[in-house]
Amino acid sequence: MAFDLKEIIAARLGENYKLHERHVNPTLVAAQRVIGFDKVYARAEGAYLYDMDNQPYLDFLSGYSVFNIGRNHPRVQQAIRDVLDLDLPNMVQMDCSLLSGLLAEAITKRTPPHLNAVFFCNSGTEAMEGALKFARAATGRKRAVSLASAFHGLSLGALSLMGCESFTEGFGPLMEGFDARVPLDDINELDRQLRSRDVAAFVIETVQGKGCQTPKSDFFVRAQELCRKYGTLLISDEVQTGLGRTGKMFGFEWRLRAMRRDRHPARDLPKNIFANGSLRRPLDHFRPEQSGHGLRARRAGSDRQRKLNREFCQNGLATDGESRQSPRPTFVHQKSSG
Ligand SMILES: Cc1ncc(COP(=O)(O)O)c(C=O)c1O
Repeated sequence: MAFDLKEIIAARLGENYKLHERHVNPTLVAAQRVIGFDKVYARAEGAYLYDMDNQPYLDFLSGYSVFNIGRNHPRVQQAIRDVLDLDLPNMVQMDCSLLSGLLAEAITKRTPPHLNAVFFCNSGTEAMEGALKFARAATGRKRAVSLASAFHGLSLGALSLMGCESFTEGFGPLMEGFDARVPLDDINELDRQLRSRDVAAFVIETVQGKGCQTPKSDFFVRAQELCRKYGTLLISDEVQTGLGRTGKMFGFEWRLRAMRRDRHPARDLPKNIFANGSLRRPLDHFRPEQSGHGLRARRAGSDRQRKLNREFCQNGLATDGESRQSPRPTFVHQKSSG
């Protein structure tokens, strides 16, 4: 019999929880049943989920913030269809794919002009692994310091930066030298950690996913100065701040001061590290305008970048006037009768 995914889904929709109970994660299924979140969603559009009776639910969680432009956006769907229709040569190992080059070009148009290299990977946690490895290789140091309440992913390196013990219990020993946590705003403790000059990276979220916390002082700017002083790289985890989610393209644009690249000891580091859906970057040399040759070109670049970013933050992926109706939603916890 020919494989027909649409037919399979039509025939088996509703078996979701039974399948997961048997083959994926029975504990999660039990928890969802207890709290009344065991709905079967048949489709999704924008900010809404629809159950098998076409009842809409407004999804405030948004896949832990990954659907910045809503689910199943028509422009994204069209782009995916176009790629499939083109029969492009994907995953040729000895090749440079046009698509990833184009995406890297589009991303770097939106960053300060001197941040011009992109590193692609599959997830936030893999981005963190990549950033940590770059930091170790560039500095020749072993340690990494993170913030209290930090969350940077669940693979072993990223997990070792975790600021919440319930996530790490049972998985040790974690990465050696990754165990120091600095409370937000405690600049003295950060100084104490970095002054031994053996820390490759200090890792931050400019808005912490856990508790939505931000510093009450100019902690990040002072941290940036300490990193420079002690030769530690500063890595900004932008998974939660997303693209445009804070009102600026990147979260670090609110919190960190522009700095001269040529004054950082690790000046041979790649200029930028980006990752799929999430950004990890050494920020020590964030400085849109530098003196000397090429100033005008850089200014023009940064004006263009600012314009692009402003448009994105204001309009997202506009749908060219296509209207998407907002249905009256049901809230899952209400156990609606319809
Ligand atoms: C701040 C932060 N960093 C990293 C991650 C890990 O991302 P992923 O789940 O894509 O591995 C998350 C996930 O929620 C996150 O919130």
